[in-house]
Amino acid sequence: MSTTEAVLGLLRQKQKVSGEAMAKSLKVSRTAVWKAMNSLRELGYNIEGDPKGYHLVSAPDILHPYELNPLLKTKIFGKKIEHHITIGSTNERARELAEEGWPDGSFVVSEAQETGKGRLGRAWSSPPGGIWFSLILIPDMRPSQAPTLTLAGGTAVANALAENGFDARLKWPNDVLIGDKKVCGILTEMSGEMERIDYIVMGIGINANCKVEDLPKEYRAKATTLQEARGTPVDRKKILVDILEAFEELYGLSTEDMLIQWKERSFTLGKNVKVHTQKGDILGVAKDLDPTGALIIELPSGERQTIYSGDCEHLRNA
Ligand code: BTN
Repeated sequence: MSTTEAVLGLLRQKQKVSGEAMAKSLKVSRTAVWKAMNSLRELGYNIEGDPKGYHLVSAPDILHPYELNPLLKTKIFGKKIEHHITIGSTNERARELAEEGWPDGSFVVSEAQETGKGRLGRAWSSPPGGIWFSLILIPDMRPSQAPTLTLAGGTAVANALAENGFDARLKWPNDVLIGDKKVCGILTEMSGEMERIDYIVMGIGINANCKVEDLPKEYRAKATTLQEARGTPVDRKKILVDILEAFEELYGLSTEDMLIQWKERSFTLGKNVKVHTQKGDILGVAKDLDPTGALIIELPSGERQTIYSGDCEHLRNA
């Protein structure tokens, strides 16, 4: 733990604590305490000081490890966390860190992204107030099984949102909906060979405390935010921590069990769907998932077709 985090720990424990007492208890110099105080204030911690000591008045609403660590009960998810106020894309940064050898379950989180990436080369709008983060995963599975992990990521988000009182459902392959509107998207990128995964970067974007008007015009009709769904802002820290805990639990399961949990929260199965694939649109009824997480559709002819990737549209059931 850094001196800054340890100083914050002491400030959280006591009403008022002197610089000298902190230096003594942490076995560091008074200058080190003073520097830590400045770093905390820069992050937005409101710390009042008088000759008798320091007092923590309020903490900022940021997804910094200083705020997350005291809440996290996970063993591997969040062991290392990098936080940014703004960044291009957390997926890009997580990829750099994975190449540097950051371990399984570490992640990058940012309060906003300037060039957030969505699926299929689309841009992903990431204003302040959202939850934008990318996990580094080093799973022991074949690359062909990797899509089940994206489904597990969506399931973790939906389970955590349900725990926080939202009616969250999953749209194949990796959207989380509230009602019939998208609140979260997942972008999974893999590095490896045919037979081996080196690492996976799973970027998760949740429209939390932002307004639908902050999102690009073309998405507004089909999108929602947690703040809009509830009518008041949500506790982003709690939601992120709940997601990490839910995901760590799923991460330990077999792919079969991950898929069972996805199906329990599925909005897609049983629906009339139109899936936009590289080979054209496919219309039918979504029936099931295959063992790799691909969508099995029953065509109007009664024949079944397995779809491995595409954009799924839910149609009104006739
Ligand atoms: C989608 O198109 O639905 C996927 C959106 C994924 C967005 C997240 S936000 C955090 C991470 N960083 C990115 O640049 N993209 C993902």
